[in-house]
Amino acid sequence: MYVSIPYEPYTQVKKNPLNPTGMNLRKPPEGTVARKGHYNMTVENDKGERSALLVYNFPAGEEGLKMASKVSNPLALPKDSAAIDKYVLEECQPLYERYCQHCHGATGKGDGKVNDQYKGVANLTAGAQKTNTSGHIFHVITHGKGRMWPHKQIVTPEERWKIAYYVHKLQGRLHEAVANNRSDDKAPKAKTDEDTKTDSTAKKEAKKTEPENKGH
Ligand code: HEC
Repeated sequence: MYVSIPYEPYTQVKKNPLNPTGMNLRKPPEGTVARKGHYNMTVENDKGERSALLVYNFPAGEEGLKMASKVSNPLALPKDSAAIDKYVLEECQPLYERYCQHCHGATGKGDGKVNDQYKGVANLTAGAQKTNTSGHIFHVITHGKGRMWPHKQIVTPEERWKIAYYVHKLQGRLHEAVANNRSDDKAPKAKTDEDTKTDSTAKKEAKKTEPENKGH
């Protein structure tokens, strides 16, 4: 069998003399953020078609922000609203307090301590900011915007989505945002194994009803 000349990270034929462990696959560089569990995100284009999306596919800048704003929050939440409040308090608020509060303030009004020195911190609860989607917030945390610096080096993708939920709470529209997300979930998405199963069941159902449809 032909074995390609370049070193393949997942195919090891001989000991690699160049790497300290003897393996082709090297340790990821410092600061690498794991993408595990984030493969199944999808995004819709202007024609209403959805395609799969990796979390870093959106470039920094206005164009990327516009695309990212259409992405719904992929983190699953509990069903009933009291449980959602508890989740957001326990899982999301501490992250906001750690990474955002010193600038944006405890209530999101942009009045954190740092704002005394670093002017222009946005009020997340007023004007256009009040209706920012999870995807928009995710993009701003990732790449920064204007005077806000990128935070992708210190906040993992999962933490960013959690923080987005807490920002929705500060915007006073957590439950509305969750409901919007759930209706987005009904839109066609990139196919997973589960979906393929459901698809073939749907086709069978369609076949069954065909004869009845004749003549209509
Ligand atoms: C060092 C201070 C600082 C920190 C920390 C910070 N921000 Fe910001 N943020 C800013 C400033 C300043 C702006 C205004 C940016 C501009 O328009 O120039 C801003 C703007 C924003 C906006 C509005 C972007 C838009 O569309 O106009 C969002 C949303 C936001 N920040 C979310 C966050 C979240 C969430 C965190 C925590 C992960 C965070 N920020 C951490 C300073 C900060």
